[in-house]
Amino acid sequence: MKALMSLEDYLDGWARTGEAGAVAKTVLSLASAGRLISGLAAQGPLAGSMSAVVGHSNDGDGQKELDRITNIQVIEGLKGAPVACIASEELDGPMATGKDDAPLCVAVDPLDGSSNIDANVTIGTIFSILPRLKDAPGAGEAHFFQPGTKQLAAGYIIYGPQTSMVLTVGEGAHIFTLDPADRKYKLTSANLQVPAETREFAINASNYRHWDAGIRRYIDSCLEGAQGGRAKNFNMRWVGSMVAECHRILMRGGIYLYPGDTREGYAEGRLRLIYEGNPVAFLMDQAGGAATTGQMRILDVEPTSIHQRIPLIFGSAEEVAVAESYQGNGAASAERSPLFARRGLFRS
Ligand code: AHG
Ligand code: MN
Ligand code: MN
Repeated sequence: MKALMSLEDYLDGWARTGEAGAVAKTVLSLASAGRLISGLAAQGPLAGSMSAVVGHSNDGDGQKELDRITNIQVIEGLKGAPVACIASEELDGPMATGKDDAPLCVAVDPLDGSSNIDANVTIGTIFSILPRLKDAPGAGEAHFFQPGTKQLAAGYIIYGPQTSMVLTVGEGAHIFTLDPADRKYKLTSANLQVPAETREFAINASNYRHWDAGIRRYIDSCLEGAQGGRAKNFNMRWVGSMVAECHRILMRGGIYLYPGDTREGYAEGRLRLIYEGNPVAFLMDQAGGAATTGQMRILDVEPTSIHQRIPLIFGSAEEVAVAESYQGNGAASAERSPLFARRGLFRS
């Protein structure tokens, strides 16, 4: 069997010098941190009580022991990388690394899906690499207030049955699987393509009563299946780890939604623009998928605060467009359109 290309060789072939060379180095640093986190995740309870709540994150969510450790491992891993500043979901604000002239800044969700630790369900580390702004101070939030279109690279490391890095440096989205035999990441899927159409959606349906009319109408249309206006049956999945949902969608299509809702603190949904929305949107964009707030492309949103949440809808491009058509002004037109005529299964 032909040897698979390693992550090192892929990055080496892409760039060795300049800003891109710095990105390559940073990706390798994140990959090393991912190797350690993968080992820890695999140990589970053997490594201690990883789901014990040890603190509180910036938005009041309980911080688990594994959230705390993965945050340290990512920051430690980035010590050798040309990074001036790190923003983490687990830190109150951006952290200067002391390398003020380094060309890059990294935003990270060290552990996505932390409610799944005890359940032995897939979790992940999400990252976004941005250029350092020349005129902002070392630990300035301004570095992270660039829209997602400015990302130089993004992706995640997923800890499931396999550990894999899914990466884009703006030249397609690729999967590098960590080989347990030699601990190297190897290119196992190049140029991912998300099918434009799908029959599978992912949403936390327990929040139905909190959603606005547009999201309810869209989900109703999926639930109505062949009997509804869209004449199409849907399947549903919800893992509770966005990385796992994103991975499934990259592999076989689908749509993921975490919209804003009426619960306190959820007006803009649950997911963070800088650590979750932007990297996933970059991957989707590179794989022919789409990512939107419901009103606009995620990658075009100008961040205004470091832990900003964002309503997030991503996945198969045609289905994302349908979901979008149920939002805002589009909602009214979608409802009027005979194409989306509906029977109102759950309408209150
Ligand atoms: P995190 O563990 O980083 O806080 O992110 C969890 C996110 C995301 O992974 C997942 O899709 C969603 O929160 C789950 O939300 P519910 O608890 O509402 O299901
Ligand atoms: Mn997360
Ligand atoms: Mn997290």
